[in-house]
Amino acid sequence: MIADLRELDRRTGGPGGARRVAWTEGWREARAFVEELLSQIGISSERDEAGNVWAWLEGDREHAVAIGSHLDSVPSGGWLDGALGVLTAVGVMRAWVSAGRRPPRWLALVDWADEEGARFGHSLFGSSAFSGTLDAPRAGELRDHAGHQLADVLAADGVDIGRVLDAGRRRARLARYLELHIEQGPVLEHGGLRAAAVSGCVGIERHRCQFIGQTGHAGTTPMGSRRDAGLAACAAALEAERIAVDCGGTATTGSLVLSPGIPTAVPGEAEMLVDLRHADAARLRAMLGTVLDAARAAAAARHCELRAERVWGIEPVEFDKTLVLLAREACAEVAGSDFVLRSGALHDAAEVARVLPAAMIFAPSIGGISHAAEENTSDDDLIAAINAFGRLCANALVSRRPTPERRA
Ligand code: GLV
Ligand code: MN
Ligand code: MN
Repeated sequence: MIADLRELDRRTGGPGGARRVAWTEGWREARAFVEELLSQIGISSERDEAGNVWAWLEGDREHAVAIGSHLDSVPSGGWLDGALGVLTAVGVMRAWVSAGRRPPRWLALVDWADEEGARFGHSLFGSSAFSGTLDAPRAGELRDHAGHQLADVLAADGVDIGRVLDAGRRRARLARYLELHIEQGPVLEHGGLRAAAVSGCVGIERHRCQFIGQTGHAGTTPMGSRRDAGLAACAAALEAERIAVDCGGTATTGSLVLSPGIPTAVPGEAEMLVDLRHADAARLRAMLGTVLDAARAAAAARHCELRAERVWGIEPVEFDKTLVLLAREACAEVAGSDFVLRSGALHDAAEVARVLPAAMIFAPSIGGISHAAEENTSDDDLIAAINAFGRLCANALVSRRPTPERRA
């Protein structure tokens, strides 16, 4: 599996980081590689209406255990984010096939489309279409920095925004969902842990704040009479940071674009994208209200106008308690570490958990670095986490627990 990951990195990454932003050529190349690996073990794949890729391995009992993650990356992203889960899923299928054994239950591999939302700001696109929570008409209208509309970009890839929710039909064939991912943070490394179970994911509010002031000459506009939208946005970003620290959440201003963006003009417009996260839904809402108030105050202080709109959001999610327990046991038995943590990063499992019992295992990240080319995990830790995940899959396949009632 590690050799497959390295080959994927060779084809679609390299020293500058992963080049697999969803709906681009690099992403399609990555998917073609997975198709190649699956065909080597005689398994074909299919694409659903939302662009998710599925592969099935027949087992004794119906209602498959689905395993997977995402192949798309952020620009110049890490080699393991998402890819680890998909190539491990290929490895799990390969293990059954090469042992010449039929699993006690069907296995489904899934590669979710556009987990990252790097280009349009809408994370978990494919998995939210599957779970049915996607507001497809609204998502279709989102635009990237170049002004391209999501619906048109999907259409060019053969995905009809009007039909994406049909991907949810596959829910009827599944019993549970498991995902292996790197932690993308420092907790496991600090604790000397090789693998850990994940209890759930934080909630997120992602908003676009547009500050509108007046463009003016850098040399002649007096400092006291400027309407500097750029500085209003900067002040709001610093306030968001302070508020997040106060509230025990996170606030990230990951994009701040000033117009006209030249050294000789006071910026008349600024667009700030802010991503707020908290494990508690009520606190997240409160944090959002405080940040928007602060943005309004920052705009008013510089005689600017503020237009704020929600780009995307998700409520905090708890994973299935029984599966989390199975994940803990697998990590303890195979990797020697019994530990549970909540994910501050987003995962497709958060969407799937709304409609199916779901759980995850994390592998450690060196230095806690992710969404960066430097992202890495030692081979020994990858092996331990992959083996723990393999054990979890084996236990979930034989689990006698009846297929739980679906929540949606
Ligand atoms: C994705 O990795 C996210 O946490 O936004
Ligand atoms: Mn990921
Ligand atoms: Mn990511």
